[in-house]
This record gives sequence, structure tokens and C-alpha cells, in this order.
Amino acid sequence: MQTKLWLLDRKKDLDKQLQEAAELIKKGELVAFPTETVYGLGANGLNSEACRKIFAAKGRPADNPLILHIAKLEEIIPLSSNLSASAKRMMEVFWPGPLTMIVHKSDLIPQVVTAGLDTVAIRFPSNPVANRLIALSACPIAAPSANKSGKPSPTTAGDVLADMEGIIAGVIDGGACDIGVESTIVDTTVPVPTILRPGGITLEMLEEALGAVEIDPGLIKKDQIPKAPGMKYRHYAPQAEMYLVEGPEAPEQIKKFVELAVGKGLRIGVLADKKTIDLLPDNANIVSHNWGSTKAELAEKLYIYLRRFDSEKVDLIVGEGTTEADLGLAIMNRMRKSAGHNILWAEKGKLIKQSGKTPDFLPENMLK
Ligand code: TXA
Ligand code: MG
Repeated sequence: MQTKLWLLDRKKDLDKQLQEAAELIKKGELVAFPTETVYGLGANGLNSEACRKIFAAKGRPADNPLILHIAKLEEIIPLSSNLSASAKRMMEVFWPGPLTMIVHKSDLIPQVVTAGLDTVAIRFPSNPVANRLIALSACPIAAPSANKSGKPSPTTAGDVLADMEGIIAGVIDGGACDIGVESTIVDTTVPVPTILRPGGITLEMLEEALGAVEIDPGLIKKDQIPKAPGMKYRHYAPQAEMYLVEGPEAPEQIKKFVELAVGKGLRIGVLADKKTIDLLPDNANIVSHNWGSTKAELAEKLYIYLRRFDSEKVDLIVGEGTTEADLGLAIMNRMRKSAGHNILWAEKGKLIKQSGKTPDFLPENMLK
């Protein structure tokens, strides 16, 4: 299949430029489009056949349900039933924006969208391109992130093409995504609203609007299965093995880690705070990307750097942990998953294994 690419000109009429893409969605084809979080792989969300194509294109497990994207607040009404008070409050405060709500589904929704669950995920994105595409397509658009399953989500049209060229009908290039990590998912069908996936709408923002908010224990405890089916898979993974170093002595321990790896002839990717990167020696086999000066900047660039490590052909990656306040919760959730939970804690001159593997070039006396 030839994949069409529409390069949008923001100064010209959007609707005209999106007409052909909307026609393809109506016909049951797949079109990737930008949102404020990441690029989505869109299909008519009320057409089972079209939604099945999403699973095939991504190589997505059939038990992982899709998010339906809407273009107006009231479009949630026919798709849901029994909206809770917390759901109504969240719609008012956070929509349009990077928040997905899990609500009881209506009979309109095909089985394939919800993977057989009796709830459905609904999101009203704020990105104007996404908004006009949904409106012109005249249906809710089912859209997961437009990457192959397991890879980092795409935040540019180029990233989408790298995974989907020749497989889908088209890609709308609306520039890079602002937020860079996927939307916050909140289950609104339980007595206390519960975060199933942290994202751009933070725990702190939700607590301010709603009072009590919980975090799915499956996001934190290794022995509990997450409530969002997709959160149990290895995700956001670059090609090279990744290790995450957290804790008070992360900078010093990352320096030792990098020096040992380079000493073994390995090419290593480093994603860390600028202060940590400044400790590293000059060496052609050290490829470093610095976090940037704010958490928003790190979130925006996180997947870009993880994908770049692939093209930079590193043998392994070490990432530095950050605090979990605000956007840090979403960033750390993605980094831990990218690292396949290979996590080391740096304290008292040692690296203490938290979970996963440790690389074999680390000497016994560095570990605990
Ligand atoms: O920012 C985003 O949310 C992006 C953009 C494109 O909107 N979309 C996105 O979709 O990240 P996806 O499919 O990559 O992630 C959707 C997550 C999965 O973990 C899935 O298991 C969960 O939402 N999910 C969907 N329906 C659910 C339901 N009824 N109950 C619990 N989790 C659900
Ligand atoms: Mg995804």
C-alpha cells in the first residue's frame, strides 16, 4: 500500500487540507494524525472491520483495548452510560486535553474496541488538527499510539512513517507533539477515581480538582497486574538494552557505569541531567542526551531520544531517574518500562539492584 503524506500548512484552511484524510477514515482506512500527546493511528471507531486493521498494523495483542477520540464534550453521551460525578467534573476541568477517562460503555461500541470489557476509554484531544479530523470524519476515531507494539510512541510524522510506511493509508504531518508522552488514563467507574496510566494531567492536578485520587497499585507493585491491559506489556522500548539508575548518588554511579562499559569496548547511550553528563569523559563511544531544564522538556523529548539511540546504534543505554512529582510520575513510569525494569539504586557508594538484570561488566564490589 502507498502511504499518503499530508504536510499541513497552518496558515491555510485546515478543513480543506484534512478532507481527503477524513474521507479515508469514513471508508474504513487507517490514517495517522497528531495529537497534543503523541501521534495516533486512527480508524472509524464504530466500524469493527476498520478497528481490526489497527491491531494488524501495530501487531497489537487483541486483549488491549483502544481509546475513542471525540471532537465535542457532548459526544461522550451516546458512547457511555452512567457517567459518575467525578467523570463529569474531569470533563469540565480537563477537556479538551491529555486526559482519557474510562467510563461504562454504551451498546454502540464494537467489541473489538473494548477488547470485550464493559468499559470504554474516551478522550477529547485539544490538538486542532485532531479536532478537525474527528469532526470531518463524523465518527469517534479509535486511535492507539501510531507505533509498532512495544516501540516508543511516535511524536513526529517521521517517527510514524518509520514504523507504518506502506502499511497504512496515510499520515497527517502536523509537526511535533507538545507533551510527548501519552495521555493520563483515569478510571472513573470506581468509587475513588484511579490513575491507570500517568501522563500530562498530573496526580497533583487531579487531586486539586477532585480531592482523593488513587494510583493503580499495578503501576507500582511488580506482583500486581495493571488495570489498563496495555500497561502490562513491555513498552516504549529502544532496541538496545536499557538500565535505569535512580537514587541520591545516581550521577557518580552513572559515571562509573559509563566508564566501565566504554572500557569493555561498548558504545553507550546516556540520558541524564546535564550535571551528570558534564561528569563524563570525552569519548566517541559515549552518546549523551541531556534532560533539558524542565520536566516538560524531558517529557517532550523522551521518546525522541529513545528512538535516536536506535539510529545512533548504541549497544546499551543508561538513564538517570528523576523525582516523581508532577510530570515526573509519567516520565519515570515510561523510563522504567523502557528499561524493561532493569533498575539500580545508587547509594552509599554502591549500586543496589531493585529489579531486572544487571550488566555483566559491573564488578561485584560495585553492587549490592
Ligand atoms: O495520548 C494518548 O492517549 C494516545 C493518543 C493517540 O491519544 N493514545 C494512546 O493509546 O496512548 P494506546 O492504545 O497506545 O494506549 C491506550 C491504553 C492502553 O494501555 C489500554 O490498555 C488502555 O488505554 N485502555 C483502553 N481501554 C481501556 C479500558 N476500558 N479499561 C482500562 N484500560 C483501557
Ligand atoms: Mg501505545
